[in-house]
Amino acid sequence: MKAEPYSPEEIAAVYRVIYERRDMRHFLPDAVEPEILQRLLNAAHHAPSVGFMQPWRFIRITSPELRQQIHVLVEQERIVTAQALGERSDEFMKLKVEGILECGEVLVAALCEHREQYVFGRRTLPEMDVASLSCAIQNMWLAARAEGLGLGWVSMFEPEALKTLLNMPADSQPLAILCLGHVEQFYDKPMLEQENWANLHTLESVLFENSWQNVTPIETL
Ligand SMILES: Cc1cc2nc3c(=O)[nH]c(=O)nc-3n(C[C@H](O)[C@H](O)[C@H](O)COP(=O)(O)O)c2cc1C
Repeated sequence: MKAEPYSPEEIAAVYRVIYERRDMRHFLPDAVEPEILQRLLNAAHHAPSVGFMQPWRFIRITSPELRQQIHVLVEQERIVTAQALGERSDEFMKLKVEGILECGEVLVAALCEHREQYVFGRRTLPEMDVASLSCAIQNMWLAARAEGLGLGWVSMFEPEALKTLLNMPADSQPLAILCLGHVEQFYDKPMLEQENWANLHTLESVLFENSWQNVTPIETL
């Protein structure tokens, strides 16, 4: 492969998909075309991973009953999350945080079992398996946006309950319930920004030189 930049149009497309990707929670009920799903899964599977570990596993949920049960788990956790949020509880309960029952496809993204045998790049940072799966999900997220499909990452669930529901090995770990599907439109801005839950930090407030700096206070929840 030659070390040449892509064409200006191709470069523009890469940045466009980065800026126009959204976490989606509103979906149309239309099915996802099998060939698109295959492309998206392949995009995920070509992500970087620590020590080339490829810790990702994807479980496609095709059973409507299972989808309902997953939704129940998320709803339970949504309520517990609201309680844990204290004074922002009511505001949180008004947010739409998942589209599990509406979207065309539900996929559970998980870490594989027996991860302790992978030491390369994980001896001091075992969480690099999580980072690797996150890279895979991001690949899928960007590819989905480019294909005109929305994807939403749902992390509100009790992992042990989801593992039991999906017959997962004890040392595997589900990280995401992914809602994938056609959408009427993409949000102009992140939905949590549109709903005044949080704003994008300025780049200056997260970029330091030579040592950690706390020059610009960052809003925290
Ligand atoms: C690791 C991770 C977990 C997330 N879990 C949830 C979730 O459970 N529910 C939800 O509504 N959004 C979830 N999101 C989406 C974020 O809310 C979203 O990325 C953020 O608000 C910025 O919006 P954007 O992705 O459209 O730029 C998650 C995102 C990430 C990266």
